[in-house]
Amino acid sequence: MPNTILIGAQWGDEGKGKIIDVLTEGADWVVRAQGGNNAGHTVEVGEERFVLHLVPSGILHDGKRCVIGNGVVLDPVALVEEIRGVMDRGFSVEGRLFISDRAHVVFPYHRMLDAQGEACKAKDDQIGTTQRGIGPAYSDKAARFGLRMGDLIDPSFPEVLRSRIEDKNRALSALGAPTVEFAEILAATQEAMAVLAPLVCDTVPLLHDAVRAGDTMLFEGAQGIMLDIDFGTYPFVTSSNAGSGGAATGSGVPPNRMDRVVGVLKAYTTRVGEGPFPTELFDADGEELRRVGREFGATTGRPRRCGWFDAVVARHAVMTCGVDEWALTKLDVLDGFETLKICTAYELDGRLIDHVPANVRQLARCTPIYEEMPGWQTSTQGITRYEELPAAAQRYIARLEAVSGAPVAILSLGPRRDETIFREPRA
Ligand code: GDP
Ligand code: IMO
Ligand code: MG
Repeated sequence: MPNTILIGAQWGDEGKGKIIDVLTEGADWVVRAQGGNNAGHTVEVGEERFVLHLVPSGILHDGKRCVIGNGVVLDPVALVEEIRGVMDRGFSVEGRLFISDRAHVVFPYHRMLDAQGEACKAKDDQIGTTQRGIGPAYSDKAARFGLRMGDLIDPSFPEVLRSRIEDKNRALSALGAPTVEFAEILAATQEAMAVLAPLVCDTVPLLHDAVRAGDTMLFEGAQGIMLDIDFGTYPFVTSSNAGSGGAATGSGVPPNRMDRVVGVLKAYTTRVGEGPFPTELFDADGEELRRVGREFGATTGRPRRCGWFDAVVARHAVMTCGVDEWALTKLDVLDGFETLKICTAYELDGRLIDHVPANVRQLARCTPIYEEMPGWQTSTQGITRYEELPAAAQRYIARLEAVSGAPVAILSLGPRRDETIFREPRA
């Protein structure tokens, strides 16, 4: 397998965890390069269901090695809990999980500032974050005030933390929020570091040597391009580059070592949290997508907003991430629909546009232009060959390819590994 970047091509929760899991077979390394435990990646192996937040999904394949790169923000206490959960279910991390010493740390004060920041905003400005402290941790990184994993294993850590906490407590007090206890945070962090310290290293030479030796890399994107801090629906986004560029800056593996970009695309659209979503449905079809697709957040349990497939969004992913091929997921969720709609363009203030406007107020005014297609109204469960799909399903996929501008190479018809169809490359 070529070195592959896998990204979410919508607003997250496209099924990246499942696709990473099936692609891990062909990779030596699985690398997370951005985001934090705001992510929730679900993998079903046999009867077992795993939800991973920080640990790369490749950990569920014995012998594969996983890296949490410099671009990730990492809550040490949450990570230890997750590692214990994975180990309890029979997977080892020793010699298999490596954590960048450059990865920034999420502390409890980041979580409190996240919650407080949201509470202080006017209703229309609230983002609906996962409240995992992601925004405040990346803010500290950009403000050059963050602490990195390497700082936590340095003898100076207690003193540096004390001074940070004094500063953060002033900020929390000014917001009228409760303050945090230095001794408590120090003890919890040191306890977590007793587990994590052996896994922390400089992952740049590690990955460099692996690439030189011919090992193959799979980069596990978190969130999706519409939540990317630059190309998403700013400010209703997360705080990292969820697009393919983030894989390089967040790992130290340079762009000219990357060979292929796979975009994970749901056969319809979902979004959790606030912000514009042109094809959102508020009717029985939206309810049906949520019910059949089990669209409830893997991290926060919130119901996901659901809507029709949006090709304007898919094209935005192709342009900004260089998507070579799609992994199209959850096609099975559409099995019962009589009619399907595909949004091919927007109408904005009386004009037709074919791209995502940068301004979020403009995007909120966009109304979708739809094409309608007949559904197939038969179960696709158990189908293992593309040619066996109902003709209407094949036509739907062909239309998505035509209007999105990239081919569907992987098709997912269920959460399990064996519910996946790999298509032969076409001319
Ligand atoms: P991620 O954040 O992109 O990894 O996606 P999530 O794990 O948050 O959400 C995707 C959900 O859809 C999970 O519950 C998966 O088990 C499930 N899933 C993935 N692929 C398919 C599929 O092809 N069909 C169905 N029905 N469910 C799927
Ligand atoms: P995965 O990797 C879906 C959303 C939040 C909120 C916004 C900002 O599972 O696809 P944050 O906590 O990051 O500051 O929240 O981004 N969000 C996600 N939505 N899937 C995710 O990750 C998400 N991670 C963050 O709901 O709207
Ligand atoms: Mg998710």
